[in-house]
Order: sequence, then structure tokens, then C-alpha cells
Amino acid sequence: MLAIVLGTRPEIIKMSPIIRSCQKKGVDFFVLHTGQHYSYEMDRVFFDELGLPAPEFNLDVGSKSHAEQTGQIMTGIEKILAQEKPEVVLVQGDTNTVLAGTLAASKTYIRKGSSQPIDVGHVEAGLRSFDRSMPEEVNRIVADHLSRYLFAPTKTAQEHLQHEGIPDEKIFVTGNTVVDAVKENLALSKKKADTVKDLGLSKDRYFLVTLHRQENVDNKKRLKEILESLTQIHETTGMPLVFPIHPRTEKMIASFSLKLKGFQMIKPLGFLEFLQLESQARLALTDSGGVQEEACILNVPCVTIRDSTERPETVDVGANIIAGVEPSAIVNATEKMLARSRMWENPFGDGKAGDRIVSIINPK
Ligand code: UD1
Ligand code: UDP
Repeated sequence: MLAIVLGTRPEIIKMSPIIRSCQKKGVDFFVLHTGQHYSYEMDRVFFDELGLPAPEFNLDVGSKSHAEQTGQIMTGIEKILAQEKPEVVLVQGDTNTVLAGTLAASKTYIRKGSSQPIDVGHVEAGLRSFDRSMPEEVNRIVADHLSRYLFAPTKTAQEHLQHEGIPDEKIFVTGNTVVDAVKENLALSKKKADTVKDLGLSKDRYFLVTLHRQENVDNKKRLKEILESLTQIHETTGMPLVFPIHPRTEKMIASFSLKLKGFQMIKPLGFLEFLQLESQARLALTDSGGVQEEACILNVPCVTIRDSTERPETVDVGANIIAGVEPSAIVNATEKMLARSRMWENPFGDGKAGDRIVSIINPK
């Protein structure tokens, strides 16, 4: 039995190819949702749009401080693992859900008298920003060092794991399941209502903005300067900044009483609508991990508003610039990316990562 643990928007999207593969191959599995994300547009919309089965368990943990959230998820998961006795727990990415799922499974012994805990499989293993001030970096390091199966999306990720002393037999280079998710859903998304037109936009005539990193949006000065630099880009290009706003960012903009100019603010979109918006944008300005990858896959130039990335492959192929967070640097990076040719290779694999991962865990 396989337990698929997930809790946030990107985990639902990137686990979806694995869930579909389990269904196709007749693998015995259940989905455990931690409830880290819970608003309809951060959670349910993805199950509905992607046709995923409702989770068998939902811990409804909600928003908390890091320690409270991680602790409550661990307590909830431990009980379910003891009851359901899966052989493998699969986690994806770098959230508190991943940290808690990994820790709980690594200390749960389902076979009587056995000193062997439940095996953890980490999907998207080996990513490193080398910035431990990011909660995500802490979470992914712990998950990697406790996992039995490390599903590295790229060779770079594999090398990070090797350098940290993780034995080769635990590491599998599979590609990133985000490619599967984009390929499986892009065609489907084109059959839906035309989101770009409905928003009064036209292809290549707008910028896509997403922001939600703790270090960017919880800091008033930083957030204000980032938003002002984006307004400057709007004023020089005349193109709107379309901003599906993450609830964390919406809350912080309101609490800092910031005024925005040049933005077309919208609610977070479902994946099918977001794929349309993303694939037709002239350029993405973002601090998201998934958006850096998807923009690269969709041949959309990207400017990353952060000091580091754990997705250096996007920079190496010419699809992305890590601008930092200084306003002039964001403006300069945007000018550079607008001038660059949009031809590059997708470094994240062939779109069969989900099948590969399921075959490795369950070789029958
Ligand atoms: C979390 C992950 C981050 C990931 C992101 C994906 C951690 C430490 N962070 O960040 O790595 O990139 O998810 O989006 O695990 N909120 C809602 N509704 C929701 C969820 C959140 O209103 O459904 C609001 C709450 O005010 C909450 C805030 O957003 O306090 C932050 O949520 P949280 O899950 O703590 O972190 P994210 O910023 O979403
Ligand atoms: N996404 C979405 N709707 C939106 C914004 C993002 O479906 O309004 C998807 C996006 O396509 C990507 C994922 O959410 O697959 C990225 O999630 P997020 O930026 O929240 O987290 P990160 O990838 O940084 O962990």
C-alpha cells in the first residue's frame, strides 16, 4: 500500500500524474491531505479540474506558525499510518507538509518487532537554493536525508544529493512530474473557456505576476519596492501586470496598506485557466518554484524576484534570470529577458516522470 501525502496547491498539481499512474497501473494507494491549503481556489479546484479522487483523509490543519503546523500534521499523520500501515509514504516538494510527513513516517514501525520504519519516497528530491533562511530549504534537506527513494528531477539535483553523501542506489533521475502535469492538461485547458480573452487580454501583450514567498511578502519594505518596480515596468512597456494573488500576499498587502498601480488583480486561478494565462504571457515575473519551471517548459521568458533559485536549470538554458529584489535589478532583468530569443530546451524531462516513479516504488 502506498500513502500519497499532500497539502498545498503545487503538491496537488505535481502529485496528480502519480495519482493517475497509480490508477492506471492498479496500485493500491490512498491520498492523505494535510489541509495546509484549504481555500477553494488553493485546494478543491485542483481536485475538481484534474479529476482526482477525493482524499481518503483530511487533517484540516489549516494555517499556523511553522512549528504548530508541522507538529499538528505529524500527530495526525502518525495515527493514520499506524492504522493503514502503508509500506511507502510519498511526499512531493518542500513544504511543511513534506517535512511533517517525512518525519512521521520515518519514526513509524508498522511491522511488529522490526527496526525498519516506513519507507519515504521524496518526489522532486535534491533541489537546493543553498539559502537556509528559506523554510523550504530546511524542509527539503531533511526530507532528502530521511528518504529511501529520492526522485531527482534532473542530473543537477542528483549531483547535490551525491555531494551530500546520499548513496547512489537511493537516487533515481526521473524528470519532474510538472512536465507530465503541463502536457496532460495543456490540451484540456485549451478546450475550456478562453481565460485570456475573458480577462480582456491578448497573447504576448501582458505580464504574468505571482508572488508569495515568505521572505518577499512578509517584509513591508521589500514587498513595497518589488511592487513599485513592477509598476515601473508597466509604465515603460504599457502592458498590464496580471496578478492572480496568493492569499498570503493579499493579506500582507492589506495589512501594510500598500497601493498598487498598473496591476490587474484576480483571484488565484484553477490550473487549467492558469496554464492558459501563463502560456500566452509575454513574460512571467515571479518568486514561485513551479512558475519558473512551467514558464521554461512553455517557452515563456521568466524573471525570478529572489536572490537564489533551486531551479538553476531554467537559468542555464536561458529561460530565466534571477534578478534579486532590488527595483533597478528587476527592471534590468526584465529588459534583458524581453530582448532574448525564446528558443531553449526543456530541462525537466519527457513528461513520463509519474509512471517512472510508480514503477520504481511498485515494480510489478
Ligand atoms: C506554502 C509553502 C511554500 C509553497 C506554497 C505554495 C511552507 C513552509 N510553505 O506557502 O513552500 O511554495 O505553500 O503556494 O510549507 N492561506 C489561505 N488559504 C489557504 C492557504 C493559505 O488564506 O488555502 C493564507 C493564510 O493566511 C496563511 C497564509 O496564506 O497564513 C500562508 O499559508 P502557508 O500554507 O503557511 O504558506 P504559503 O505561503 O501558502
Ligand atoms: N498556479 C495555479 N493558479 C494560480 C497560480 C499558480 O494553478 O493562480 C499553479 C502553477 O501553475 C504551478 C503552481 O500553482 O503549478 C505553483 O504554486 P505556487 O507558486 O503556489 O508554489 P511553489 O511552486 O512556489 O511552491
